[in-house]
Amino acid sequence: MLSAPAPDSLTHIMSSELSAEQPSAALTPAQIASLQQQAVTVAHHAYAPYSNFRVGAALLLTDGTIVTGCNVENASYRLTTCAEQTAITSAVALRGPGIRIRAIAVANLNQTASQPCGACRQTIHEFSTPDTIVYFPAEGGSIAQATMAELLPAAFLLNE
Ligand code: THU
Repeated sequence: MLSAPAPDSLTHIMSSELSAEQPSAALTPAQIASLQQQAVTVAHHAYAPYSNFRVGAALLLTDGTIVTGCNVENASYRLTTCAEQTAITSAVALRGPGIRIRAIAVANLNQTASQPCGACRQTIHEFSTPDTIVYFPAEGGSIAQATMAELLPAAFLLNE
């Protein structure tokens, strides 16, 4: 499941295979599998020479667009950008500041369980609703899912 071949070209922004007609409806198993596969595919583009932990994220926006991203590390470790953050940055550049995320699939190529880190949860929260669904690798090769309300029930909010 987590061993898809590398993509032929740098197609980190892909047009949607998913319908935008029901932006709040639950995803079908086929839609989830498609989003997950795109996260696996883009993980092959990761730049992770320090951790060797290659991560991919595929966002499904409420307008039906899918945008993907991978982690990009740096010799100064703390400058690393996570896959989820890369994808969100690309999505804003592509569709503007009004984007809303319907669902996110996260994958890694190490065939291990991994949830979005705390920083990514805060980043995702900025463009999510409480119902935004995150799919991530769980124990035994299965895919777990959680809403943003579950993953980050007390996000930082800037109240000026
Ligand atoms: N990483 C992500 O891309 N997303 C996460 O949510 C957790 C961690 C990356 C950062 C780093 O390049 C590698 O995984 C190991 O921490």
